[in-house]
Amino acid sequence: MALMQQDIEIIKRMHKIKHKIAVMSGKGGVGKSTIAVNLAAAFAKKGYKIGIMDADVHGPNVPKMFGVEGKSLKFDKNGIIPIETEEGIKVMSVGFFLSSQDTPVIWRGPAKTGVIRQFLAEVTWDDLDILIIDNPPGTGDEPLTILQTVPSLDGVVLVTTPQSVVQEDVEKSVNLVKNLNIPVIGIIENMSGFICPHCKNEILIFGKDGGAKIAKEMNIPFLERLPLNVETSVASDTGIPIVIKDPKSEISIKISEIMDKIESKLRAAPNS
Ligand SMILES: Nc1ncnc2c1ncn2[C@@H]1O[C@H](COP(=O)(O)OP(=O)(O)O)[C@@H](O)[C@H]1O
Ligand SMILES: [Mg+2]
Repeated sequence: MALMQQDIEIIKRMHKIKHKIAVMSGKGGVGKSTIAVNLAAAFAKKGYKIGIMDADVHGPNVPKMFGVEGKSLKFDKNGIIPIETEEGIKVMSVGFFLSSQDTPVIWRGPAKTGVIRQFLAEVTWDDLDILIIDNPPGTGDEPLTILQTVPSLDGVVLVTTPQSVVQEDVEKSVNLVKNLNIPVIGIIENMSGFICPHCKNEILIFGKDGGAKIAKEMNIPFLERLPLNVETSVASDTGIPIVIKDPKSEISIKISEIMDKIESKLRAAPNS
């Protein structure tokens, strides 16, 4: 089949970006967007040119987490100009196209695939070091489009919480990614334990080590356990990622460690 003009444009634009990483999970609300945003901020702080593409059409949270929601997009002859955060991170999200935060998007599969392809083909990402793609949960149209369309995707970072019900959903995501011959960069176990501010003991709200167990069983790298931490969600709600707001906090240090691990994997990648 002949390549469509749009496919050619996607290949051209994605070719200018050194590395592409997708963040996925089996279930919603496990912290994908939080982790995607904080990893983007951590990499940007280290001097990398970063873009973040919000592929969550129904729950576009990335603009709010960076405090850039409600900004209006500009267009030029080369396409759609992404919004820049204070840290210089280029952001694109369906959220920028909605008149208000509570407007629901009522698109079916083909429309969702269409907007994601448009973000890949028409946004002026230019020569980024890393594009981080935040996905909605599961293995539906949006992540499938990303996995099948982004050329030379470096790999997928999977996020889970420690409970076993979530684990089965993670396995589906891992199998999809593996079946498409895309590398699994690793798995992050989020909301893993909570340090009681009073007694300082760790409370295992959702259990512990579910992510580590699944990593072992499925033979994929385990990246890190991140604690449940109230300041993290407050920071996201106020539009300043925790790694910027409180870089010395335990969770920020662990996110930096994840970044270092991803960085060394990307260095070893053929297109670095
Ligand atoms: N480690 C954490 N500690 C505390 N709250 C968190 C943590 N990770 C995520 N959250 C919060 O949980 C909610 C869901 O996170 P989000 O990143 O939107 O998940 P997803 O993108 O997987 O749906 C948000 O309110 C977020 O602030
Ligand atoms: Mg999300």
